[in-house]
Amino acid sequence: MNIKMQPISNSMGQQIINVGNHSIWELSREEIISLFKEYGALLFRGFANNVEIFKEFSNSLSTDFMDYAGGVFQRRIINGDKTVLSVNNFKSAIKLHGEMYYQKNIPLMLWFFCAHPASAKGETTICDGRQFYNELSIATKDLLSKNHIKFTTHLSEAEWQKQYKTEDVNQVAAICELNDMRLTIYQDNSIFTEYIRPAIIPSSCGKYQVFINSLLPGKHLYPERLRFADDSDISDTVMSELNEIAERLTTEVYWQKGDILMIDNTRIMHGRRAFDDDKRDIYVRLCAPAFSMSSQTLQKVTS
Ligand SMILES: [Fe+2]
Repeated sequence: MNIKMQPISNSMGQQIINVGNHSIWELSREEIISLFKEYGALLFRGFANNVEIFKEFSNSLSTDFMDYAGGVFQRRIINGDKTVLSVNNFKSAIKLHGEMYYQKNIPLMLWFFCAHPASAKGETTICDGRQFYNELSIATKDLLSKNHIKFTTHLSEAEWQKQYKTEDVNQVAAICELNDMRLTIYQDNSIFTEYIRPAIIPSSCGKYQVFINSLLPGKHLYPERLRFADDSDISDTVMSELNEIAERLTTEVYWQKGDILMIDNTRIMHGRRAFDDDKRDIYVRLCAPAFSMSSQTLQKVTS
């Protein structure tokens, strides 16, 4: 097959580039899975994709598609399918994060599709949380291993109805319970939620530590909502160290129309650069791999 393979940047990921005239269905499923486990981020380029091919291709490798209930941003539904969402309701930059790491129930895997690239800027940013962990100072490794992060939110009735996509507070209570979030409902129907999770997690293969969380955009956009679990402050010194590492390790994905990006949301953080072009249109799907992420190779059974 006339396919070129090269890293996304010199530090991470793998691109699978169609330099012939191949259909994406000609790629070996086993090889895609094996590359995904090794790199955590795969970019499929030049396969003349449209949104229907993107959907079918992601369906073929994923399961448990989510509709983003509980998500903090507003997202536009594409072609009536709640599991295909546009990420473009505003144009500012978003710092590196694991998707929906402010709740327990996260998508284990993400798919992005470039319906239309920005004429300039608007790159999606990615970073390997294993490399990020290795760059942390000993003091910060120690601090983040011992102290989990607490996310708190106070939402008015109109705000929680939008975020949780329901008008029924009992449904919000059910979502919070499933997500180990502590919920308080006030008399004016506003709600207060509290959720605690670690900033560093073990990798799915169990061999590495991974820095993946929503600390960077969380502290940037809503500084009052994030503290350590014991209510102590996450200091500016720690945040400057994290922001410096993030910028140093960031890989930018320069989108081309039809690109598909497959991301391990238990390892690779993502974000984006700001843009001005109204035509930029990137879609996302939140789901889980339809294959085992364990690193064990299949044992051949011989008789
Ligand atoms: Fe995101």
